[in-house]
Amino acid sequence: MLKTITRRGFLTGISGGIAAAALVPRFTWAAERGVEVPGKAGMIVRSARFLDLEMPAEFFSSWITPVPHFFVRNHMHEPSTFDADNWKLSISGEVERPLSISLRELAKVDAHTITNTLECAGNGRGFQQPKVPGVQWQRGAVGTARFTGPRLRDILQRAGIKASGKHVMFRGLDEVPGKVPPFIRSIPIEKATDADTLIATHMNGAVLARHHGFPARALVPGWIGAASCKWLTEIKVLDQEFDGNFMKPGYRMPNQLISPGGEVNSADTHAITSLGVKSVIAQPGDGSSVSSRPLRIHGAAWAGEAAVARLEISTDGGTTWRDARLGSQQARYAWRLWDHVWRPQEPGEYTIMCRATDDQGRTQPQSAAWNPSGYLYNAVDQVKIHVLA
Ligand code: MTE
Repeated sequence: MLKTITRRGFLTGISGGIAAAALVPRFTWAAERGVEVPGKAGMIVRSARFLDLEMPAEFFSSWITPVPHFFVRNHMHEPSTFDADNWKLSISGEVERPLSISLRELAKVDAHTITNTLECAGNGRGFQQPKVPGVQWQRGAVGTARFTGPRLRDILQRAGIKASGKHVMFRGLDEVPGKVPPFIRSIPIEKATDADTLIATHMNGAVLARHHGFPARALVPGWIGAASCKWLTEIKVLDQEFDGNFMKPGYRMPNQLISPGGEVNSADTHAITSLGVKSVIAQPGDGSSVSSRPLRIHGAAWAGEAAVARLEISTDGGTTWRDARLGSQQARYAWRLWDHVWRPQEPGEYTIMCRATDDQGRTQPQSAAWNPSGYLYNAVDQVKIHVLA
């Protein structure tokens, strides 16, 4: 039976309201299908409170991900009021002229479009061994969209960045339940003033959907999704990296490789920035039985700020590898679709694997570097299938 999740449902039916925040687990990790979220279709619900929706693997077949299939990652409640007329974006901190900009004024600034693969740093966490806490994403906390809006640097230049300005902080309008710290993160000034970093107001040619940050979000291409703050309301230029929960201890990687299950010294970590090289198999699905010969194996590969150079496929559990064909649609920061046609010689059980290599010479590892938060999982993807007679 279909259940519909609405904003009201978040606050009353599901969570029991903000007052009950302390009584319910922070995340529910069930992977439910058949739950209807307005504006979304066919998604895996990793958490209903707060909304975390994963794209099923079969949707990796479209170079541009339609908004209804684009994953959602919320750390807290989406803002309940959407008053575009009164929305203001403030720019303050290490600037000559602090200012506040309305949506109407923002719309007058030259807009640019960047096609970007946005991936949550925790995507693939569900595959980490030993298991780590957090949303148990598998493949689909990632999607590719065309984001449009003014360059962040054009807005910062209006305010005049002081020489002391080294980092740029974003604050979202999320509704913060109980004692949860607000969603505030920062990026270094070099990335903030890059021509491709945007204040996006549109996604795939339409006004941003509320799940994706209406009326404006940061778009920090090639970097982990957490850098791209949704429901943007405040930008502050800082003289150092923002020191708050979502920068530290959140979204940090150990500087050294640690053995699975090991402990990390928090002083020996760094903030995660760009994505690694990674690929996933869209189809055939894991555990599926197939009869078609030849069989089309396809998926997507991405590499953050780098470009995918090669995609290899193994149909014998990693013993031998062949090049797959990379799709013709490409843009800096966007994934490449790939496909490979395979003729299984005989029926039986097969393990199919894919691995990407980027133009920096990085290749997906056989197993991912384990870390206690399960960030940046990028091991060779694999599915087990049964080829029917
Ligand atoms: N911005 C705000 N204000 N609040 C959030 O919870 N989640 C971040 C980022 N921006 C988040 C946010 C994370 S962790 C990710 S992966 C991306 O938004 C997800 O973007 P999406 O929901 O549009 O796919």
